[in-house]
Amino acid sequence: MKDLHLNPDLLTVPAYVGGRPIEEVQAEYGLSDVVKLASNENPLGPSPLGVAAFQEALKSAHRYPGIADKQLRQKLAAHYNARFGTSFTERNFLTGNGLSDILRMIALGFLHAGGESIYCNPTFPLYGIFTRMFGGTPVPVPHADYRYNLRGMGDAITDRTRVIFVCNPNNPTGTTVSRDEVAALMARVPASAVVVFDESYYDFVDDPQYSNALEYVQEGRDQVVCLRGFSKAYGMANLRIGYMIATPDMVDYLAHAQISFNTGDATLRAATAALDDRPHVEAARQLMARERPFLYDAFAELELKFVPTQANFILLVDLPLPVQAINEGLLRRGVIVRPMGGFGMPDAIRVTIGTHAENVKFVEMLKQVLDQ
Ligand SMILES: Cc1ncc(COP(=O)(O)O)c(C=O)c1O
Repeated sequence: MKDLHLNPDLLTVPAYVGGRPIEEVQAEYGLSDVVKLASNENPLGPSPLGVAAFQEALKSAHRYPGIADKQLRQKLAAHYNARFGTSFTERNFLTGNGLSDILRMIALGFLHAGGESIYCNPTFPLYGIFTRMFGGTPVPVPHADYRYNLRGMGDAITDRTRVIFVCNPNNPTGTTVSRDEVAALMARVPASAVVVFDESYYDFVDDPQYSNALEYVQEGRDQVVCLRGFSKAYGMANLRIGYMIATPDMVDYLAHAQISFNTGDATLRAATAALDDRPHVEAARQLMARERPFLYDAFAELELKFVPTQANFILLVDLPLPVQAINEGLLRRGVIVRPMGGFGMPDAIRVTIGTHAENVKFVEMLKQVLDQ
């Protein structure tokens, strides 16, 4: 490699470390029954309507994607207009190979030549990773009591600020910011900076104060983009589809960063069908509403400190044993959780809320590990 002209920006990018796959843990520990609570997936599985549409679309797998992307965007517009009283058209939506791909497009579109991105740490690692990848400068601001510190982020704005990422609910803390906090931040953001509201876990929120970033898009503010996807509540993380809601001018601009045929027809048709699957999303919401208190009680009994969540995962902090020992003990007992070292929290573990049976197993195994 020594004679090649490597991209210095790429060399600053740490690898993204995902949750461990079930098959890998089964093989390594000789287990057949392994529960994965590491990647905030939907424990109820994929939307059945989505799966049926995916299978049907496979018959045309030999063709390049056709009009399915436009149809999904039209469906999204109708969906939002009916549910939220907006007046969007398909031109307000841009689709990506997961929200990760949309984050890539935003970073490519705005974070070149040292432009700064502000976000709150700990948060989703891809904000910092993509900032570096495209030659930008990350400006992480510490969180305030596990919440996104919008006031601190406002203080960090400079004339080099290009993108402000607001993860709401935040991964990995599960906390949200309110409409008032967002309004106060927006009052301080210069017209030259883009504000990205990453609402990947939006479907699980039940806090009435939760911000509504969509209103800014509806008002025609080019600088506001809102990200939502199909990986979480719709249970389609493996199909790789997410979307951005923004003004048509912003969509047109970021389309320059879109890779042609970035998502296949089968996935696009699955997403379009899944939008009609309210019962599936509702079942996931209700599961979270039931299981959050179950886990809170269990953690309180074990005298563990946790952050109350608005998402489908819970962050355990200040653990009484080294995270490495807890993680290893859980893996041996067939439970995969996510140690938070990669998120900059070496003393924390994030656990995805599973089915009741999975949560019971997790609590039992955690108790065994802590009692050792
Ligand atoms: C906050 C946040 N944003 C974006 C993503 C990426 O989601 P996708 O599967 O749509 O790429 C995740 C995935 O875990 C996430 O937690």
